[in-house]
Amino acid sequence: SAYTIAILGATGAVGKESLEILEERNFPLAGLRLFASKRSAGEVMTCQGKEWTVEELTESSSFAGVDFAFISATDSISKEYGPRLGAAGVVVIDDSGVFRMDPQVPLVVPEVNASALRSLPRGIVSIPNCTTTPLVMALKPLHDAVGVKRVVVTTFQSVSGTGAAAMDELLDQTRALMAFRDVKAEVYPYQIAFNLLPHIGSFSEGGECSEEIKIVRETRKILDAPTMRVTSTTVRVPVLRCHSESINVELEKPLTPNEARAALAAMPGVLVYDDPLKKLYPMPLDATGKDEVYVGRIREDASVTNGLNLWVVSDNLRKGAALNAVQIAESLVRG
Ligand code: A2P
Repeated sequence: SAYTIAILGATGAVGKESLEILEERNFPLAGLRLFASKRSAGEVMTCQGKEWTVEELTESSSFAGVDFAFISATDSISKEYGPRLGAAGVVVIDDSGVFRMDPQVPLVVPEVNASALRSLPRGIVSIPNCTTTPLVMALKPLHDAVGVKRVVVTTFQSVSGTGAAAMDELLDQTRALMAFRDVKAEVYPYQIAFNLLPHIGSFSEGGECSEEIKIVRETRKILDAPTMRVTSTTVRVPVLRCHSESINVELEKPLTPNEARAALAAMPGVLVYDDPLKKLYPMPLDATGKDEVYVGRIREDASVTNGLNLWVVSDNLRKGAALNAVQIAESLVRG
């Protein structure tokens, strides 16, 4: 059988990627409904050899016959349409942070916790933050092997995580700087070109970024490890695509780097890319457009008992967002 998919936010960085992924994976499409703001209504996009016209998303948009809705627009769109479509029998796969910690909403990376899809009380599935997904993909095989006690993660996140406007801002600022013109910062509080910002999301009273809090909570929920010790620092870097992460783990029991490499290599969706003497280590340009989570720089951390360091790079628009969402739909279809 075939399914009708609606994409809310079809013209955005993630929405566009969803179209490519549905095409590449030859998802059994009966129909496709593309929604965006009034600005984009009437634009034509192609998928699986057909042309589809973007509709303006409004209160009165009809979703009759839609099986799955991918939402990747704004938090307020997720808040408004997620519960409504879920209650109307559409399976909503939501990319925002709005429902992730809701106990009634599974938070899913299919390779890690597909079993959480068995029950969808609100008709909504959340996909994790685009840094949490590669983190849990790398932690899962280590956790299954010997148990993870504590994680310290520092992220290097590309501007596409913020959306299409941020990608334009990095390119515009770079051009302006090369021409000795003044730089305008609109999307970010400071210039991002030739700079970096240790600031993603909003700050709490205690000085933590909302992105840092998301990583901690989401990791515990997905790994079903409510007391796992996790701490993070999130940094925006002048890279267009792919998020990188330095991950330090303290394990419950010993695991050599070679054993870790073997466990990671056996994890579906993970690619061990680790031969430093041949200058082989994952970089954003390697993982761009790729489905796999790249893991390299696997080595002992001798400063603690059972310590390990990893370097992980993953395409934030693909496994971090659109691909993970499509894989969830595929899992649900397979049953
Ligand atoms: P549009 O392109 O018409 O602005 P990104 O994450 O790359 O910024 O993309 C955000 C996506 O969400 C785009 O597809 C954008 O459409 C869509 N979007 C933003 N605001 C609204 C809105 N109020 N109604 C419908 N779609 C929206």
